[in-house]
Amino acid sequence: MARRIRTGTFTVNGASRDMRARNLAPLPADIDHAVAAAVPISGLTAWQGLFDHGRLTTGQTVLVHGAAGGVGSIAVQLAQEVGARVIGTGRASARDRALALGVDTFLDLETEKLEHAGDVDVVFDVIGGDILDRSATLVRAGGTLVTIAMPPKVQPRYGRAVFFVVEPDRTQLTDLAARLRDGRLKPIIGAVRPLAEAPAAFIPDKRTPGKTIIRVTED
Ligand SMILES: NC(=O)c1ccc[n+]([C@@H]2O[C@H](COP(=O)([O-])OP(=O)(O)OC[C@H]3O[C@@H](n4cnc5c(N)ncnc54)[C@H](OP(=O)(O)O)[C@@H]3O)[C@@H](O)[C@H]2O)c1
Repeated sequence: MARRIRTGTFTVNGASRDMRARNLAPLPADIDHAVAAAVPISGLTAWQGLFDHGRLTTGQTVLVHGAAGGVGSIAVQLAQEVGARVIGTGRASARDRALALGVDTFLDLETEKLEHAGDVDVVFDVIGGDILDRSATLVRAGGTLVTIAMPPKVQPRYGRAVFFVVEPDRTQLTDLAARLRDGRLKPIIGAVRPLAEAPAAFIPDKRTPGKTIIRVTED
């Protein structure tokens, strides 16, 4: 039986979100729904942060905060694919996951000095606060500090600082689906839980690292 999917314009956190059919992309039949669910928001955010806002290109260096998280893990893989050098950051517990994703260097924010990362062309921040503020000094002339966490208070001296909210984009979503299908992109799935367990799945400190997927139906 055909299912009707409700689309239109929705408001999320005061911002209008255009979810019309022209912004959707087909899901390849051989991709598991739980895997596919991990990609649209994180993938589009990573893509737009790196390339639309950060203007990252081959041969540049990007520092990705939260490199083993939902957005960061995809940013690491996309940046690697474009031929950038990738420095990933996070807690000590994230080191192995970040290295497995392919970061060239991992910086443990709990024990190492952020300033030791050296100059980079792009910082991609998902954490905000003090880490975002201190990242501005890492950006070399002409580079960009991109954040999805909050509007930045500190600007790079000779570069730009950008805060953005992800936008729907059919072309980018289709490109992400192609990468998912041919294995270039692997989202980190933390837990797949039934709808009834959704509240418990998001309790801080009890979350499984990686994307939490809520299965709404069992078919
Ligand atoms: N502006 C936008 O359009 C947009 C789009 C998507 C997401 N977001 C926001 O972006 C943020 C990240 O999303 P996400 O899905 O990537 O979240 P996530 O899966 O929780 O990833 C965040 C990563 O950063 C790490 N981290 C957080 N604080 C840290 C700290 N102080 N030191 C070291 N590591 C730290 C986390 O480690 P632990 O898990 O160990 O804390 C985790 O690995 C969220 O606040 C989300 O709401 C914004």
